[in-house]
Amino acid sequence: MDKTPQTKPRDSWTFSPEINSEIRRAAATGIYDIRGGGAKRRVPHFDDLLFLGASISRYPLEGYREKCDTTVVLGTRFAKKPIELKTPVTIAGMSFGALSGPAKEALGRGATMAGTSTTTGDGGMTDEERGHSEKLVYQYLPSRYGMNPDDLRRADAIEIVVGQGAKPGGGGMLLGQKITQRVASMRNLPVGIDQRSACRHPDWTGPDDLEIKILEIREITGWEKPIYVKIGGARPYYDTALAVKAGADVVVLDGMQGGTAATQDVFIEHVGQPTLACIRPAVKALQDLGMHRKVQLIVSGGIRTGADVAKALALGADAVAIGTAALIALGENDPKWSAEYAALGTTADAYDDWHEGKDPAGITTQDPDLMKRLDPVEAARRLRNYLAVLTLECQTIARACGKSHVHNLEPEDLCALTIEAAAMAGVPLAGTDWIPGKSGL
Ligand SMILES: Cc1cc2nc3c(=O)[nH]c(=O)nc-3n(C[C@H](O)[C@H](O)[C@H](O)COP(=O)(O)O)c2cc1C
Repeated sequence: MDKTPQTKPRDSWTFSPEINSEIRRAAATGIYDIRGGGAKRRVPHFDDLLFLGASISRYPLEGYREKCDTTVVLGTRFAKKPIELKTPVTIAGMSFGALSGPAKEALGRGATMAGTSTTTGDGGMTDEERGHSEKLVYQYLPSRYGMNPDDLRRADAIEIVVGQGAKPGGGGMLLGQKITQRVASMRNLPVGIDQRSACRHPDWTGPDDLEIKILEIREITGWEKPIYVKIGGARPYYDTALAVKAGADVVVLDGMQGGTAATQDVFIEHVGQPTLACIRPAVKALQDLGMHRKVQLIVSGGIRTGADVAKALALGADAVAIGTAALIALGENDPKWSAEYAALGTTADAYDDWHEGKDPAGITTQDPDLMKRLDPVEAARRLRNYLAVLTLECQTIARACGKSHVHNLEPEDLCALTIEAAAMAGVPLAGTDWIPGKSGL
């Protein structure tokens, strides 16, 4: 018998099994891969930061006796009716069409119980979400699908979407299988035909047109509602400055890990900057204009825990928005549907074919039978619980850093575990006072 030791077969890093499988898929189909969710590759993220906490030189607050406020007011610059939230966590815009009616209802119910806002999305405002959301932000998108001035007036705030972190420079996609009679009639589209949303607003070509648009919406809504401008994490310094210059009350900044209902995988993984890298330049733009805390900054893209929330706030955000995590709280990708995920050729945690409309959890679908699986009241209770945990975790960290309001968290409370994260977040590498590239920030 040959006893020669064998070398373990070695997978190539360049041509890994995943890359090879994508090459085979592309060769078999001739079409790019479309999927939902956010970037799956590892990029520097909030996990690469740590809080220092208080000791002798800093003084912590006592959890049971000393207050640590979590309220956030959005839209204090121009709006007559700013929005007050009990938590710095809001629900990001997700379209009706991508999501089922019961899922939108659950988001509204859960957010309202937690004292926060939810947001419409491409395709317009549904009665279930307006009816169940105490504070509803209405998106004004390049596609204008489902847009009407009455809904602008029914909203509590307006969010003009310029871009999304998952696809800065790209538009939305909704495949025919999800375009039912109801979705089609809200969007003025034919039933069952694939739809692509525009990547830019049809009636403007630059920042001056954005300024005109903001004024137009203010006039339609009697200067009452806060106007947000949402940007993808591309050039956060200049985009934030231009949104402020155009008259935004709030800037929503969505980094590359931000989820989407459907777009090309190549877009999700290769366009845009990590959320962590976007925050400090945006805050710097606000500070340079004397607008930090006057124009509020909402950050999104890969927020999962109260620690992520606290870190985003410490870097200068006023609030965060969550999309994917809110869906998971409702019941998306739940292992209880494992057998059905396996039948779709995937697993609960890896499932990302949200565009196909076959979601076993009944959330990213328009199939009447699948939709019935989601009980909006029970799903809302889960979302409310999750939002409560995020808020408590963020508050716990703020107290440990000696802060009586979560907005008092600051970069000085943080250190970084890697040189990359230190450079992106503008905080010292742990154990040193070195902030790489500080002069460039
Ligand atoms: C199912 C789904 C649908 C979405 N639809 C929209 C949309 O209609 N308009 C929009 O601006 N962003 C949309 N987004 C992006 C979210 O508003 C948000 O930017 C992103 O989900 C934040 O990242 P996170 O998912 O990691 O929390 C969608 C995201 C998901 C997951």
